[in-house]
Amino acid sequence: MKNTFILAFCFSAFFSFAQKKDLASTPPMGWNSWNHFHCDVNETLIKEIADAMLATGMASVGYEYVVIDDCWQIGRDENGILIADRLRFPSGMKSLADYVHSKGLKFGIYSDAGKKTCQERPGSLDSEAIDAKTFAEWGVDYIKYDWCHHGFLKAENIYPIMGAELANLDREIVYSVCNWGWGDPWLWAPDFAHLWRTTWDVEACFDCKGNIIWKSVEEIIDLNMPLAPYAKPGAWNDPDMLEVGNGSLTEDENMAHFALWCMMAAPLMAGNDLRNMEERTLEILSHKELIQINQDPLGIQAFRIYQDPFFEIWLKPLQGGSKALSLFNRSEETIDYQVNWKDLLHLENVYQVKDLINQRIESSTEENLKLSLRANSVLVYRLDL
Ligand code: GLA
Repeated sequence: MKNTFILAFCFSAFFSFAQKKDLASTPPMGWNSWNHFHCDVNETLIKEIADAMLATGMASVGYEYVVIDDCWQIGRDENGILIADRLRFPSGMKSLADYVHSKGLKFGIYSDAGKKTCQERPGSLDSEAIDAKTFAEWGVDYIKYDWCHHGFLKAENIYPIMGAELANLDREIVYSVCNWGWGDPWLWAPDFAHLWRTTWDVEACFDCKGNIIWKSVEEIIDLNMPLAPYAKPGAWNDPDMLEVGNGSLTEDENMAHFALWCMMAAPLMAGNDLRNMEERTLEILSHKELIQINQDPLGIQAFRIYQDPFFEIWLKPLQGGSKALSLFNRSEETIDYQVNWKDLLHLENVYQVKDLINQRIESSTEENLKLSLRANSVLVYRLDL
């Protein structure tokens, strides 16, 4: 542990100028195994998910990373190289990455900045260089880097070590910091990482409260929203992966969860079983106009322009002077509301207005809009000049 302190100090001093790779100019999109499958991962599943990403059309709307989360690793060999569980991944990680690449997709993997992962598998602490090299040799394109079993180390000293190793590789790997917002990663991670988790793990519950470890969709929103000033191309707040289609959210809640992640310029990592999902789940995850808002090149995270305990209005400026506006009913009852565009947004120009969720062209910002919002639901409007 003493060595690690010295190493961490030397690395962070020495590598603080290593340039991170120019990646993730828009929020990364893909799929991650954790929310639905937890430790039950194997190569057949990952191949089928890659196949499903194409067959469902999700790849064609922008989903590209197929990420295996915790539990793929079983130990290290005599040279210290990580070994994938041979029973679950008999063909090995290189072959699996080749398969994912053969589909035109990208391959992601998980490790941990501590001695062990959160599920007690080998972590990368003190093996950063060899692990980064191994991941590159396997053809990894994305690393999610967790924060269990780190002892008394400080995240801001340890995360740059892997960042520097990745920056020095002859391979482009997106670096996803996953330390749950501890120690304010938005202040130090942008220098060497492309995204950083801002909260504890999401749970498939829209508005439950009080669990210390898991956070509901609404709790996550409240933690992630104030961090809007830190989001920018190549450096994203990550309010955790999507729970859309994972069972306990209503249709309105699934839509609200997805739409609000799009508004927050959040990474869109689907967390459901893509091989077997309801049509409505696929429609929500593949909503092209919401995804376009998420992927807008300006990379601005929405901010609140109105907030009371039951009702919020968010604004996300878009390229070319366009705007996305979402109205969010957090109450248990339907809310009726009239939008006076000019007053609300202090508009000088006239904009065309489209309701993206109901696919309806409204007249323009010249006319007030009367609307009705069901409990736990959102409406998203796109305003174009
Ligand atoms: C942590 C992370 C999760 C997941 C698990 C795996 O809890 O926050 O997203 O990666 O570890 O063990």
